[in-house]
Amino acid sequence: MGSETPALGKPVLPWKTRLVLKIISVATDVSRRSNGTIHRRMLNLFDFKSSPSPNKPVHSVLSSDITVDPTRNLWFRLYTPTNSGGGDDDDTAAFLPVLIFFHGGGFSFLSPASRVYDLVCRRFARRLHAIVLSVNYRRTPEHRFPAQYDDGFDVLRFLDDNRANGLLPPNADLSRCFVAGDSAGANLAHHVAVRACRAGFQLIKVIGLVSIQPYFGGQERTESELRLVGYPLVSVERTDWCWKAFLPDGSDRDHYAVNVSGPNAEDISGLDFPETIVIVGGFDPLQDWQKRYYEWLKKSGKKATLLEYSNMFHAFYVFPELPESSKLFSEVKEFVAKRLSKL
Ligand SMILES: *[C@@H]1O[C@H](CO)[C@@H](O)[C@H](O)[C@H]1NC(C)=O
Ligand SMILES: *[C@@H]1O[C@H](CO)[C@@H](O)[C@H](O)[C@H]1NC(C)=O
Repeated sequence: MGSETPALGKPVLPWKTRLVLKIISVATDVSRRSNGTIHRRMLNLFDFKSSPSPNKPVHSVLSSDITVDPTRNLWFRLYTPTNSGGGDDDDTAAFLPVLIFFHGGGFSFLSPASRVYDLVCRRFARRLHAIVLSVNYRRTPEHRFPAQYDDGFDVLRFLDDNRANGLLPPNADLSRCFVAGDSAGANLAHHVAVRACRAGFQLIKVIGLVSIQPYFGGQERTESELRLVGYPLVSVERTDWCWKAFLPDGSDRDHYAVNVSGPNAEDISGLDFPETIVIVGGFDPLQDWQKRYYEWLKKSGKKATLLEYSNMFHAFYVFPELPESSKLFSEVKEFVAKRLSKL
């Protein structure tokens, strides 16, 4: 396996990363049925889970699962860093920002209990020195749009109604919230951020949006979708399947949830939309949509920064063995610190 030289124009990856990517691709492809359903029992064999660790910190982070609404299995995994954060021990450092995170997986796959996202969120908690909430939203195709957005937003409402009082650590500062996600989770994070702007929250203030390789699309095929065939995880066939499972019957991919900056886009120009970083990868077929999203944020008068990882593929940052993954956590840390310093 290690002896083959990568084809020109492909990311150069350790064999371990390539093996895991292969397993994920096979698992999602074999569990996705042509009639639009998912073989959950088969998928679960590949979806390795981690339990929360409420009493013993794992790499300096405690975690526990908190129920929001048992009737729809809405809960989040809460991560609390126990390290000092290495910053100045001034008054503001005693209160920690709150990062509300939405995992990726095409709206259909994975959960906060999936090992890969448990690791990601623990890393965010430790590196950013933030309280992290990883939301278990309902998945497609069993639950279609807008169930995912409703679940995401209702977690913010739950916090704002102070129903998490006594559940969150007392130093969680809801007036300094960040919303974050990758792939489908970044799509969700965007739409939750829009709703949050309109909600008139009392306690919550969203001051930043971390959009990691967001899953957006449209009817049209973009240049990068057509050019980047055979790259890890994302293909037009897979994304079409996921959109079909997500959208209401009769809608096409120019729905505002998918083609956010397209003909049916919501007008966000009048909203107090949080400052955003958009992260894209040079081997990600979705990058053209992501760049349009960034351009559209700017055109709507919002503050946004585009960070490009030219040699990286979709979801690269969940692989801690890649140096670019560490770089991403550092850049997100910098963004969070910059936003906090401006308050
Ligand atoms: C889809 O196919 C699977 C397996 O062939 C079957 O068990 C399931 O009932 C089908 N579901 C629908 C909604 O057609
Ligand atoms: C989707 O939105 C883009 C703007 O980002 C627009 O140029 C494109 O026409 C839309 N797709 C279609 C097929 O209308």
